[in-house]
Amino acid sequence: MAFPDQFILELKQNNPIDSVMSSYVSLIRRGRNCVCLCPFHSEKSPSCTVYLESSSFYCFGCGAGGDVITFIMKIENLDYVEAIKFLADRAGMAMPEDAKNNESSRIKSRVLEINRTAARFFYDTLTRSPDGEKGRRYFSERQLTPATITKYGLGYAPDDWHRLSHFLRSKGFSEEELITANLCGRGKNGGVFDLFRDRVMFPIIDLRGNVIAFGGRIIDGSGPKYINSSDTPVFKKSRNLFSLNFAKRSEEKRLILAEGYMDVIAINQAGFENVVATLGTALTQEQARLMSQYADEIIIAYDSDGAGQNATHKAINLLSEVGVRTKIIHMEGAKDPDEYIKKFGALRFKQLLDKSGGALEFELDKCRNGLDISTDDGKIEYLKRCVNVLADITSPIEREVYIGRLADANKVSKEMLLQQVDGVIKRRINKAKSQEWTEIRTFQKQLRTNPDSYRHPKEYKAETGIIAYLANHPDEADYISSQVSPDNFVTDFNKKIYRVMLEKMKNSAFSDILSLQSEFTADEMGKITEIVINSKDVNINRTAVDDFINILISNADNSADIKDMSNDDFLKYIQDLKNKK
Ligand code: CTP
Ligand code: MN
Repeated sequence: MAFPDQFILELKQNNPIDSVMSSYVSLIRRGRNCVCLCPFHSEKSPSCTVYLESSSFYCFGCGAGGDVITFIMKIENLDYVEAIKFLADRAGMAMPEDAKNNESSRIKSRVLEINRTAARFFYDTLTRSPDGEKGRRYFSERQLTPATITKYGLGYAPDDWHRLSHFLRSKGFSEEELITANLCGRGKNGGVFDLFRDRVMFPIIDLRGNVIAFGGRIIDGSGPKYINSSDTPVFKKSRNLFSLNFAKRSEEKRLILAEGYMDVIAINQAGFENVVATLGTALTQEQARLMSQYADEIIIAYDSDGAGQNATHKAINLLSEVGVRTKIIHMEGAKDPDEYIKKFGALRFKQLLDKSGGALEFELDKCRNGLDISTDDGKIEYLKRCVNVLADITSPIEREVYIGRLADANKVSKEMLLQQVDGVIKRRINKAKSQEWTEIRTFQKQLRTNPDSYRHPKEYKAETGIIAYLANHPDEADYISSQVSPDNFVTDFNKKIYRVMLEKMKNSAFSDILSLQSEFTADEMGKITEIVINSKDVNINRTAVDDFINILISNADNSADIKDMSNDDFLKYIQDLKNKK
């Protein structure tokens, strides 16, 4: 889909890259640029740079890069047209007419319509049909009020293979659409059948109020306890949270993270609006980041069983990576928040939240699991585990304080504990160093399996040089294209870039290299951005370009072949490449 240049230009002007990115990451100003922790891979020190001058970003860690459109495509998982629409919405711009009715957004809006109609059907069945009696009884046993049922739009899917599909077909939706929405499956006889049967239904609602998916809980009978919609054109379970539509309205800067739908609803009904849960899977990095946009502090309120505690441990790590404070409730006498609130009431639950401990306390507590620390063996094992936890603390002062506390509590010497912790830290540093070596080796391997840049390092360099020069001197396009044609390019990817650039320049649709966006995937844009950014460091002039051109046209394949390099040359070559990164 082509958009008018003018439109794209205005779109970018109205969506400055730093302002867009800062809703996802915290940008730190560094000279003319900004840096941040890369949102596309997990890291502890910032390797993603935002170039304000060229309105682009590039991550030196994972190679993601591009302009503000690429950024939105990647972070919101949208295609090109959707990303444009997203940014247009953000800036309050109208979309050009012809772009509105494209196929993928048509399918999405159909699926959303189906979901809304189905949610209504489930709700009506629960609240007013005789079939819904079973669901009504279930929810009333679980002490949900009618107001809560309405608030969450809960429902009941009748015990029937075709009730929903017949209803939706009568509303004009096609069988294909029902399958795309993941509400139906295709039967052996070729017809469709309902996937949710005899289950209480939990609609998943996004921040705009759209029903994007469903979870269905079994009441009795056989089958899995929950069925959840798999991913559809409007739903990706790894990047949504149940009840965030309510939680985001809360004034509080803290969020409660529970394990299940029923916990969320019980906590919400008890008066805490700021509660969310994942959708039948473990917490993901994307969800952690999403939560960090709404809260400074997250209180994990998972089930008190072993599985819940393991999940808590993983969640703590993910949440600390996105920079939010994490606390953990310590729940006794109940298996989950739902049961806790029923047994002890909302007020006690509030106290539980308020006295929830930090991540470190949780981890130290966990070291006791399965041990009897009144015995010598138990105590030794316990202290060993604690030493590993303490070695995680990055601040030396904090480390010392906790070590002192642990020593006192267990009547052992503080010096001895300090020594142990230091030992673990040293061993970890050594391990990290050897990992770095493994990385270099993998990098070599990658290079060997990337035949293009590996087999023709010289041509590869010449090609990227020409591309970079052309990007900076579009006025020289005629000269350069008269000297070297895309066919002279050796590597497929660079060939494509060069060809597209020349085409765009011929139609004067080339403003800067980032206008190639519509022809390349987000990942490819990362590589293109890398070429441009590298070219900023080395100043390529006309003479250099002529050299590059010569390499390509006199391509007698006398290029340095890596297979023929000595080990030392090869290592040096790798280091050069790495340093350039
Ligand atoms: N879950 C799932 N599939 C299952 C079991 C659980 O997807 N077979 C997910 C659901 O999202 C569920 C969450 O894991 O909400 C927590 O599971 P569980 O504690 O078993 O469910 P609750 O929601 O707490 O429901 P209940 O109180 O009825 O046990
Ligand atoms: Mn539960």
